[in-house]
Amino acid sequence: MTKYIVHGGKPLFGEVEISGAKNAAVAIIPAAILVDGVCRIENIPQISDVTAILKILEQLGASIRSINRHTVEIDSRHIHTTRTSYELSRKLRASYYLIGALLGRFGRAEVAMPGGCNFGGVRPIDQHVKGFSALGAGVTTEGGYINAIVESGRLTGANIYLDVVSVGATMNIMMAAVLADGTTTIENAAKEPHIVDLANFLISCGAQIEGHGSSTIRIKGVSSLRGTEYAIMADRIEAGTFLVAAGITGGELLLKNCPFTELESVIAKLESMGLAIEQRPEGVLARYQGVLRGADVKTRPYPGFPTDMQAQIMALMCLAEGSSMVEESIFENRFMHVLELVRMGADIKISGHTAMVRGVSRLTGAPVMASDLRASASLVLAGLAARGTPHVQRIYHLDRGYERIENKLNAVGA
Ligand code: UD1
Repeated sequence: MTKYIVHGGKPLFGEVEISGAKNAAVAIIPAAILVDGVCRIENIPQISDVTAILKILEQLGASIRSINRHTVEIDSRHIHTTRTSYELSRKLRASYYLIGALLGRFGRAEVAMPGGCNFGGVRPIDQHVKGFSALGAGVTTEGGYINAIVESGRLTGANIYLDVVSVGATMNIMMAAVLADGTTTIENAAKEPHIVDLANFLISCGAQIEGHGSSTIRIKGVSSLRGTEYAIMADRIEAGTFLVAAGITGGELLLKNCPFTELESVIAKLESMGLAIEQRPEGVLARYQGVLRGADVKTRPYPGFPTDMQAQIMALMCLAEGSSMVEESIFENRFMHVLELVRMGADIKISGHTAMVRGVSRLTGAPVMASDLRASASLVLAGLAARGTPHVQRIYHLDRGYERIENKLNAVGA
């Protein structure tokens, strides 16, 4: 499927089941490489990034058994190579986790440079490399591959201060360090919920990790990890996207299996824009209350407002009364959705890292082009509220991170 045709203008009502978290799954699956046993992983979202990372593990020699649509068993005891294929690795950003996992288990990794979302700016991995080097690995890049090797076969614990708060570097160094000799401390670590999820998975395999979820993480290396059963946390970004869907269509959605605390910054902002959001025993209820007000948002590392919700909340701001300001402080140039929203009638001006949104009374159908995963979600959301039938092209980006989003939306009236 290459495009969605959105028949906009209908309020959405009903229940939506939130899937497992993409960014936790694409880290926990490669982390199974570290384990000398079988890991049964539940609540895995059915998205193309997960399919790709499972295929990479299979190519490395792991055996993968699908138990049902959301559960797999991974047995990494017979991995026979530490070199990943370019064809698969280039498809997703998260293939960088293979470096930490392979290096930690086997003392070497040759991983094709990661692909994934291109926000229009540079996405360096110097902090990952800094961490691996501090743990004793030699890291070089050659022919599109990142090669990391520790001659003794085993990394050594170290104190690592991250110069930028990086989710990927924090998780990658954590993976490399769990089987290292001695203790590793990561200072200025990221605190995102999926970092906690990865740490909890590793702990369930016997790893010794403290401080995950804070800015200092301490990892005491152990000699091996054992198999486990683990269920991946729910996806807060998918949930946030559906909260916006309720607001932008003037509807009411009950999100089941929805993380609440992890979405606090998003919920607070949506409430200030006029949505009623309530935590109930059966899920999180989001309700449009007749008016949408503008708001200002600055993206920040967790617990701040997530950059992965910036494009979606901007779609809502397009139809809110008054002006809104969005400052993107995590990634340079993550505004590729703006031109497309403007094509649908939005009034947005960009100046450097800031976008000024003036609310308009309606958006209209237009052919638009998705540029990355969350940008695609923002265009679908705008389309749901538009008059006419926007065609959202290149929707393969959405399949990377949202499980059957078109089915979930259609089931509540889209
Ligand atoms: C992860 C998420 C992505 C999310 C992002 C920020 C995954 C697979 N992806 O991406 O969805 O948008 O966190 O919450 O989990 N940086 C460096 N050097 C590095 C690493 C990062 O300068 O070595 C910079 C980046 O360019 C960026 C900032 O640090 O400006 C944060 O990036 P980071 O947290 O690493 O994002 P990712 O792990 O790539």
